[in-house]
Amino acid sequence: MIILGIETSCDETAVAVVDDHRTVRSHLVLSQIDIHCLTGGVVPEVAARAHLDHLDRLILEAMKQADLNFSDLDGVAATCGPGLIGGVMVGMMAAKSVALAHSKPFIAVNHLEAHALTPRLIRDIPFPYLVLLVSGGHTQILLAQDIGRYQLWATTRDDAVGECFDKSAKMMGLPYPGGPHLEKLAAQCDDLFLARARYPLAIPMQYSKDLAFSFSGLKTAVRQIIDRESGAEDTLNRAYLAAALQDVIAQTLSLRASQAMEKFIAAGYPAHLPLGAPPALIVCGGVSANLVIRAALERAAQAQGFELMAPPLQYCTDNGAMIAWAGVELLKAGRTAPLNFKARPRWPLE
Ligand code: KG4
Ligand code: ZN
Repeated sequence: MIILGIETSCDETAVAVVDDHRTVRSHLVLSQIDIHCLTGGVVPEVAARAHLDHLDRLILEAMKQADLNFSDLDGVAATCGPGLIGGVMVGMMAAKSVALAHSKPFIAVNHLEAHALTPRLIRDIPFPYLVLLVSGGHTQILLAQDIGRYQLWATTRDDAVGECFDKSAKMMGLPYPGGPHLEKLAAQCDDLFLARARYPLAIPMQYSKDLAFSFSGLKTAVRQIIDRESGAEDTLNRAYLAAALQDVIAQTLSLRASQAMEKFIAAGYPAHLPLGAPPALIVCGGVSANLVIRAALERAAQAQGFELMAPPLQYCTDNGAMIAWAGVELLKAGRTAPLNFKARPRWPLE
């Protein structure tokens, strides 16, 4: 089974061809970073037009690199939500056009489900498993029970974790998108203990029993530190601040992941797994590219007897392979969509 996958829900125009043997036959990502750097963030209308300008060429190039004709495909998948509606429509309409012209099934992919299924592109991970989805738009803990069956265990009350990275990075004068730049800056900090002492940032809602996240307070704390130190005799040590922020975010995510793993065990889910298979904690979405966060989650998973699975870095941020792979899984489950399927700017996984 060979699927063409198209991703245009934010600022990456991405196309890939993937088969059900987990071979990525082509994988193209055209980032709009240069365009959005000028405005310090994504302007939806600008993003949609940029997708429109490049998508046709990328689709043809992906087919060429995979050495396939459209007639060789078994289906065409596109992100149909959630995301910026203009961009989503560009990718969805392109996929529908290819499907219609070549009489192939069309597969409407939920972008969040694609992130949650990406580790299964690397190897088979049995359901149920826990998903920590951390991206620019979402911070969620999900129980993945099967294709199309998810329980939402936690979400954020305000900003997503990627948003906290991006906005704090912007305040520190770093370019868009802030997350990866902030990670690089934090790596220049030579003493994390000193960074923590100089910029004490508290884990948001540390003692809350419910699993909810909140990141807007951290962003405000960063703003206050920058305001306090600019002009004062203390000069802002940006690498220390970046390290302190990244550290508290890593602690926050691993605390909540630990609580979710406890809940998974208490609910008896290991009994649903094949004999000998350790329960899996999957971390996915753009922020899962952060190596300090991965390391913190790895320690938390090990402590609870879970296996942490994180996609390779090129499949963490938005890409076409994750959409094509979700297309493989959905088509196998018989979940195709009609050509009048409507794009969904909001599309909760539940
Ligand atoms: O999944 P994604 O590519 O797009 C959405 O669906 O939102 O995630 C993008 C987010 C951005 O906020 C970006 O700053 C963040 O992922 N990100 C990172 C890193 N790489 C990407 N955050 C922290 N550290 C990184 N290395
Ligand atoms: Zn994403």
